[in-house]
Amino acid sequence: MWRTFPIQTSNLYLRPFKITDAAKAYENWMSDDDVTEFLTWDTHRSPEESENIIGKWVREYEYGTMEWCIVHKRKEEPIGSIAAVQDFPEMRYCEIGYCIGKEHWGKGYMTETVKAVTEYIFRNTDYIWIQARCDSENYGSRKCLEKCGYKLAAVFELPNERMGGEIRTYHMMSIERKDIRM
Ligand SMILES: CC(C)(COP(=O)(O)OP(=O)(O)OC[C@H]1O[C@@H](n2cnc3c(N)ncnc32)[C@H](O)[C@@H]1OP(=O)(O)O)[C@@H](O)C(=O)NCCC(=O)NCCS
Repeated sequence: MWRTFPIQTSNLYLRPFKITDAAKAYENWMSDDDVTEFLTWDTHRSPEESENIIGKWVREYEYGTMEWCIVHKRKEEPIGSIAAVQDFPEMRYCEIGYCIGKEHWGKGYMTETVKAVTEYIFRNTDYIWIQARCDSENYGSRKCLEKCGYKLAAVFELPNERMGGEIRTYHMMSIERKDIRM
């Protein structure tokens, strides 16, 4: 069964969410339209929305999920999240999704996070493939994945419900177990 064990990087702690993270999660990233621009979920308009989703993640840990709260070591506060999801475990692959508060963009933090989580997944599961999809205009996300060894696997178009059904181009990035040295 999957577990969200704590991970430490140079600047960050990755650990399971606690319900008490909700206020900072709302303040630091979940209420920001710039953070959610390319995401699948709508910007939160009240702290209760953040509390509801974090409450759900906390309850789901017992079923074996991977959902980390990204905590800034020096500031000792939650600044983002990263999750790995898998609807068909027998297929031995998963998809990661992540975000970080705007104040912390461009400091290498998500590169640090994605590298650590990629290694964690290959060490702690028998998965052979991890994928991540980004809007073709989400240059930061794609660059971050490339820096972590992910390569372009496919380019496809899909309507985006949050953008009123607008057809968007997506880049599917992926990494295979054999591509990384552990
Ligand atoms: C995308 C995101 C995760 C990047 O996180 P980050 O911590 O800022 O990324 P990093 O600092 O590790 O940067 C990785 C690389 O991308 C570059 N980069 C970051 N943002 C960029 C941008 N908007 N445009 C172009 N390049 C960018 C960085 O300069 C760095 O490259 P470098 O080392 O050559 O300078 C962050 O901006 C974010 O949370 N955005 C909102 C949510 C989101 O889009 N999530 C991903 C959905 S697929």
